[in-house]
Amino acid sequence: MTAQSGILLESCKAGIFLEANVVDVSLLANASRQFIAQLTELQTQYSDAHLGATVAFGDRVWKQLTGADSAPELKPFTALGKGNLSAPATQYDLLIHIQSNRPDVNFSVAQSAFNVFQSAVKFQQEIHGFRWIEERDLTGFIDGTENPKDEQRAKVGLIATGDDADGSYVFTQRWVHQLDKWSKLSVAKQEDVIGRTKPDSVELDDVPATSHVGRVDIKENGEGLKILRQSLPYGTVTGEHGLFFISYCAKLHNIEQQLLSMFGEVDGKTDRLLGFTKPVTGAYYFAPSLEKLKAL
Ligand code: HEM
Ligand code: MG
Repeated sequence: MTAQSGILLESCKAGIFLEANVVDVSLLANASRQFIAQLTELQTQYSDAHLGATVAFGDRVWKQLTGADSAPELKPFTALGKGNLSAPATQYDLLIHIQSNRPDVNFSVAQSAFNVFQSAVKFQQEIHGFRWIEERDLTGFIDGTENPKDEQRAKVGLIATGDDADGSYVFTQRWVHQLDKWSKLSVAKQEDVIGRTKPDSVELDDVPATSHVGRVDIKENGEGLKILRQSLPYGTVTGEHGLFFISYCAKLHNIEQQLLSMFGEVDGKTDRLLGFTKPVTGAYYFAPSLEKLKAL
């Protein structure tokens, strides 16, 4: 089997994230095939762009398309945490994730997706992300240091065997940063919030339990719970901005455990990042292998 081309790409300069609710499931199979055909053409035409895209489905639609056996871990994302330290659920049915080194080419791919899917879905969110200086998040911290590299990416990101082989569980979460508040912290205090140094992303000697790294660097039976992150900064300078978080994993469990830990659902401790940025969306999806997508 073959993984969809948007999953494992490294260090892309730009991405577009489209999320939609399905109004006519019967049109999805054909729309997906058409999209993959048009994507393949654009990949050939702009071979310099390192273009990839992923089509992924929410639980409701995936069960309608394939029955209950595929992607057994898939479920709708439900809200986590309490009050102003909570993660809202905005489960949609369809995700299209486009990434490459060329925002102009990404735009053409998104137009293609819009054209082929618009009769099947109602689009709910469209976010254009960009790689910022030195792969930093808008907090100024390097994002992706501990991301799996080389052959580890497939190992972490893709289901290894069985009927779902080369498929992947996906989580999306759009965060809105409060940079005014963040910038009032000294660099040392910011480093305590993240758990790594700001200039060069070195892990602190004593990672605070409530720092971001302290919350998500989790071991289970002696083994680290790894995920593959493909997040990008997005937004405008004068308006809303933050991180469009997206992660892929062979196991939805790994992503979920990190979220439970961040939002106080494991030991009551919450991620100190939540004082400076808020999630406003959240959804789980399954991205089938290319073969499975074409055979829907
Ligand atoms: C690490 C930023 C949300 C999972 C990091 C690092 C930064 C960062 C700066 C350290 C460098 C690195 O290893 O990449 C952010 C920001 C977020 C956010 C700004 C939201 C606004 C999340 C969420 C998850 C997550 C929602 C999980 C669902 C991870 C993981 C690591 C990490 C697994 C690596 C930990 C390690 O092994 O040391 N993040 N992150 N992050 N983050 Fe996040
Ligand atoms: Mg670590």
